[in-house]
Amino acid sequence: MMKKSYQAPRGMRDVLPENMPAWQRLEGTARHLARLFGFSEVRPPLMEETTLFTRAVGEVTDIVEKEMFTLQKGKTSLSLRPEGTAGVVRAYVQAGYAKRDPLQRMYYCGPMFRYERPQKGRERMFTQFGVECIGSSDPRLDAEVMDLAARFFEELGLTGLEVRMNSMGDGEDRDRYRAAVTDFLRPKLGEFCELCQSRFERNVLRVLDCKNPACGELSMGAPVLIDYLGEENRAHFEAVQSSLRDLGREPCVDTGIVRGLDYYTRTVFEIHAPAIGARSALCGGGRYDHLVRDLGGPDVPAVGFAIGFSGTLILLEQLGLLEGLEREAPEVYVIGFSAEQKSEVLKVAGDLRRGGISAIYDVDGRSFKAQMQAAGKGTHKYAVILGDDEVERGVVQLKDLGAKSQIEVPRDQLVEAIRSAL
Ligand code: HAM
Repeated sequence: MMKKSYQAPRGMRDVLPENMPAWQRLEGTARHLARLFGFSEVRPPLMEETTLFTRAVGEVTDIVEKEMFTLQKGKTSLSLRPEGTAGVVRAYVQAGYAKRDPLQRMYYCGPMFRYERPQKGRERMFTQFGVECIGSSDPRLDAEVMDLAARFFEELGLTGLEVRMNSMGDGEDRDRYRAAVTDFLRPKLGEFCELCQSRFERNVLRVLDCKNPACGELSMGAPVLIDYLGEENRAHFEAVQSSLRDLGREPCVDTGIVRGLDYYTRTVFEIHAPAIGARSALCGGGRYDHLVRDLGGPDVPAVGFAIGFSGTLILLEQLGLLEGLEREAPEVYVIGFSAEQKSEVLKVAGDLRRGGISAIYDVDGRSFKAQMQAAGKGTHKYAVILGDDEVERGVVQLKDLGAKSQIEVPRDQLVEAIRSAL
């Protein structure tokens, strides 16, 4: 039989131990900042009923039309989550927060799945750090989540990113705007791609975020929503900008931001890294004031964002900001002078681990010299060396691999000796 070699599915990749320090840096930064801003972690399932996403993200969107990984089991259709907001809102409604504790600040860090054409920074399984602040329409919260998103990149050492915001309006503003876009597009509809033509009928605003460059050009000069904002939504938009200034950030309005998901109302924003090309959004977010209601809950407003790790890692790598991040080696390498000490080596490793000190030892039957070389090659801090004589006398040689100094330590004081030096 032919031997088959397996590869990770297209667009999905292994995060190997050597990649871990960079990932942990991102996750650590996310968790640290989330805590700083008062967000608590939430972990909904990776799958939800398919209709949850259809309902939340919108029927006429790239995600729902082309990108969901869907699994039919009997009568149930489940999909891997293409994004985090729908699941978090479903959890909020199911947990009954609206009645008992309506303002919830929640964050998540985990894999999302979209059947996209894999390319630089776009994968079929990718990780997002997202926050969702559900229960208030205070414009300070819109500014706060934008500030948190920007802080994430700043903490990682990235500068020169653009935080761009816009308003998608709501209710009547949106209806008037939709009518204006329809009037603008209708005369040249024949020149748009087929998908745009069908979207024109079903959800005209989605024509504006078609990824086809020719369609993008035809849409240039389309009406912009902020010209149609009613008084209340204009005031909200302005209040968000003034709150951003309170937080020390100058707002940058970009009327071209439309976002590719249907649930947004009022504030939307993206963070771009011009250095990684046109489809460079590292973060997308905004307000979604009707989603809780649309998913069966009460009328509760909300705002949030999600940051993609793939693009962020590419940028950090490009800028050399991942250098020096190394896989952490166990603190101690335990060495037996000869095969005679096999069992003593294991006992010492066991004692160290019980004492909270990480330790490994040779399992290849290598010579003393080869073990010393192995210990020196890694980034271990210490070698603990045992020969017959040491075993007999109840001591070990403790070698500091950095300082190259060596001392003799009684076995029962080894953990203490290392602890006080570490
Ligand atoms: P989104 O704009 O679809 O928004 O995704 C947010 C970010 O996830 C993007 O800016 C990008 O960095 C990353 N991302 C998206 N698709 C991929 C992919 N295929 N490969 C790698 N990275 C990707 C949302 O997902 C909303 N749920 C954000 C949100 C939360 N809005 C309110 N709350």
